[in-house]
Amino acid sequence: MSLSALFQPTRLGRIEIANRIVMAPLTRSRADDSTDVPSPFAAEYYGQRASAGLIVTEATQVSRMAKGYVGTPAIYSDGQVRAWAAVADAVHEAGGKIVMQLWHVGRSSHADLLPGGAAPVAPSAIQADSISFTANGPKPCDVPVALDQAGIRETVAAFANAARNARIAGFDGVEIHAANGYLIDQFLRDRSNQRSDEYGGSARNRARFALEIAQAMTEVWDAGNIGIRLSPFGTYGDMGDSDPENTFGTLIELLNPLGLAYLHMVEEFPFANINMDSGTPADREQLAVFERFHGLWQGAYIANGALTADKANDYVARNRASAASFGRPFIANPDFVERIRNGWPLASADNSVFYGGGAKGYTDFPRYSSVLETENTAA
Ligand SMILES: Cc1cc2nc3c(=O)[nH]c(=O)nc-3n(C[C@H](O)[C@H](O)[C@H](O)COP(=O)(O)O)c2cc1C
Repeated sequence: MSLSALFQPTRLGRIEIANRIVMAPLTRSRADDSTDVPSPFAAEYYGQRASAGLIVTEATQVSRMAKGYVGTPAIYSDGQVRAWAAVADAVHEAGGKIVMQLWHVGRSSHADLLPGGAAPVAPSAIQADSISFTANGPKPCDVPVALDQAGIRETVAAFANAARNARIAGFDGVEIHAANGYLIDQFLRDRSNQRSDEYGGSARNRARFALEIAQAMTEVWDAGNIGIRLSPFGTYGDMGDSDPENTFGTLIELLNPLGLAYLHMVEEFPFANINMDSGTPADREQLAVFERFHGLWQGAYIANGALTADKANDYVARNRASAASFGRPFIANPDFVERIRNGWPLASADNSVFYGGGAKGYTDFPRYSSVLETENTAA
């Protein structure tokens, strides 16, 4: 099957991309845990993957309170900005584009990871039945404190400041992480948001926090440089909603007038071969809902989740998506784009290298062209 649709250039808002293959955000937990500065190998790692039309970085903390895992990077200090600038440079030198995914984990955290042993924050004081990965090993997430209105304003400002810093570091844009059970998603869904003020209750009220963050970011960067990621049916982080179609449909309609660069949709995340606690493949009914979300959204749309190159190409060819993102395949295939273009086999990575460690299982996966050379030399 020809994969020609995947190799057509396009633009996502103001970001021009050379092909429709996006590297999905992948937390790799190799940052310095005391400074939250990305690892010295990060520039090489991302540079190796620059043939993707667009790279979305691993989730990156917007503030000290945003952290929920050991070894994840941040973007609020000068040292962090400098290290991220080297990453953006490496990707640009290799001809690629890169946006930074900005997150706040909210209740998915533990006092061990937070300044002064603080309790995590959330829309409501409802503990997640989930695990936080601390320097002392996995621990149950702590009971969070509900953010008051001043705390909400401070958090919105932290997202805008992080976007400003990503811009200073030379990124092509930012992606608002409103997926996978973290703070923005916690506000969106009624299982984790039981507030009685204007940030809780109706779908419109639950969307307010996400919308305020997106709006605040548009004051520091053009909307065409800002994307957003959603996972309406995700259950990771003890998440759920009584009416996902209404919750996320309402959000999409409220976001449309902003003219963001793209909507990045996690449509399926079966957690087939990774150490995570839950997840189910998208069923037919959910796929129909995603088609409706795609129809509602007025900008570029990136589909994600257990995609194959053929399925992604079909999505782009029939305008079911503007681009497709791949997560796990990029771990062991820095040249994923070349491999699918040439029909070369894909390598797979062992789960044990996903999170933590150094260069091993991170920057040492060979390109297929060098595997071929080695085989030819041996023959
Ligand atoms: C090791 C690992 C780390 C991940 N880290 C993030 C992350 O930082 N932010 C995010 O939005 N999704 C994250 N995800 C989810 C992926 O972006 C993607 O949605 C998921 O892997 C499904 O796509 P795939 O089937 O192509 O792998 C992660 C997934 C894996 C396997």
